[in-house]
Amino acid sequence: MTDTIFVPSFGNRPRILVGREDILRQFELCLDSIPGSRERAVLLLGQRGYGKTVLLLELAERGKKHGCVVASPTIAASGMLSRILEKLREDGSAYLSKQKAKLAGGSVGVLGFSAGMQFQDEVPVEQSFAAQLSAICRELNAKGKSVLILIDEVQANHEELRQLIIAYQELVGEGRDIALVLAGLPAAISSTLNDHVLTFLNRASRLTLTPLRISDVDMYYQNAFGELGIRLQKSDRQDLAEATNGSPYLMQLLGHYITISADADGQLTADRILSAKKRALTDYRRDICETTLAPLSDADVAFLAAMAEDEKESEPAALAGRMGVTSSYIQTYKRRLLQTGIIEQPARGKLRFAVPYLRDYLAEQNS
Ligand SMILES: Nc1ncnc2c1ncn2[C@@H]1O[C@H](COP(=O)(O)OP(=O)(O)O)[C@@H](O)[C@H]1O
Ligand SMILES: [Mg+2]
Repeated sequence: MTDTIFVPSFGNRPRILVGREDILRQFELCLDSIPGSRERAVLLLGQRGYGKTVLLLELAERGKKHGCVVASPTIAASGMLSRILEKLREDGSAYLSKQKAKLAGGSVGVLGFSAGMQFQDEVPVEQSFAAQLSAICRELNAKGKSVLILIDEVQANHEELRQLIIAYQELVGEGRDIALVLAGLPAAISSTLNDHVLTFLNRASRLTLTPLRISDVDMYYQNAFGELGIRLQKSDRQDLAEATNGSPYLMQLLGHYITISADADGQLTADRILSAKKRALTDYRRDICETTLAPLSDADVAFLAAMAEDEKESEPAALAGRMGVTSSYIQTYKRRLLQTGIIEQPARGKLRFAVPYLRDYLAEQNS
């Protein structure tokens, strides 16, 4: 069958956003809060495939409905600052007077009059990003519009990001009506928070994307498969929902492969269901497990591989024995990996994987 519902690719907006009501409610609070309040800056943390990018797109839309002029999600990469200004000027064009200043390094013509003599002079304009953002904000706020800036894929030690946050902090100090949302992997966000010039960000609201509830996934499958005309036994559908482990990306992958594996009548044999699951997990391993491990050091991966020998939870003392290292070594790596959000500490002295299927992936690699 042809798939007209599932969108198993990064940043691809699903027709329905499953189970993020809490986050969206928090965001509404951010928009409703008074300018300058700490809720105005939001940090959106989540593992790969948990829906940070698609949530930002949703927030952009909600912000506009709320009357904000929005700089739609901009990736924290070079050129980010000028993109933000461009986007605000574009979205706010109905409220902004004609652009007077050019970006730093550019120049504008200024008409000057002196003793009855008219001359035209080229005045170089070296307006900083902060000054330009401030001017835009002032003008929009005066017309009753607030400003919303959304940043995706936050990177640690990013100079332009630093400049943006400093400019934001200054505008908040001036009482401007502006809000900022930064999305990224937990590790990148926590390094950004540790940046000594950005301590201001510690007061931001922190929203962490957690796995979706299996019952929400099942409900979504029920509606989606129903609409597509796919006939699955309830127990098969529930198995699929459970197999997602709450990962939105895997939910899209499984839904997609099930759909394209169904025959014209929407029927699937047990074999086809199994092979659809395999295909989904192959993609998931490549796109999530491999990319999660890729930036880690060999020592980090060795720590995770030692954890993967445990079925569920691991204990630091047992890991030290297994790896033949000291407990302070274990503490160091434990701390590092907890910060990445790849593992979590469900209780004192217990560690477990926070990325679905990463344990299985590592266990298979080492078998
Ligand atoms: N709440 C959700 N409901 C349905 N699908 C989602 C949801 N969140 C994410 N997705 C899907 O998961 C995939 C990954 O989403 P994306 O926003 O790119 O993740 P991230 O930016 O966190 O890596 C996309 O295919 C997207 O459509
Ligand atoms: Mg993303």
